[in-house]
Amino acid sequence: MAKITVQDSSGSKVAQFTSNNDDSIGVQAQVNGAEIPFACGGAGACGVCKCKVKKGAEHIEKDKFGDAIAPIEADEVLSCVAGIKDNAPEDAEIQIESENL
Ligand code: FES
Repeated sequence: MAKITVQDSSGSKVAQFTSNNDDSIGVQAQVNGAEIPFACGGAGACGVCKCKVKKGAEHIEKDKFGDAIAPIEADEVLSCVAGIKDNAPEDAEIQIESENL
């Protein structure tokens, strides 16, 4: 579990929620009101769901829900396949910014 904050491309907060370990970060964001777009059905292939990680990268498992195929920078994740590490502390804080929000 972790607290996830999602920002749009201008840095404005779009959603903030407590994570679960059952869904990708992108799916959790969508359910909680941050409509990060998916174009490949969450297959890690298109890059549309890409987010820059601004805080808490150490708590994210980039390929937890599938292979991260689309090219990303070291400080980015494909939110459709990235998840929270099972051993993330309760007070972990994660901040991501979607370039397509
Ligand atoms: S939705 Fe296509 S890479 Fe995530």
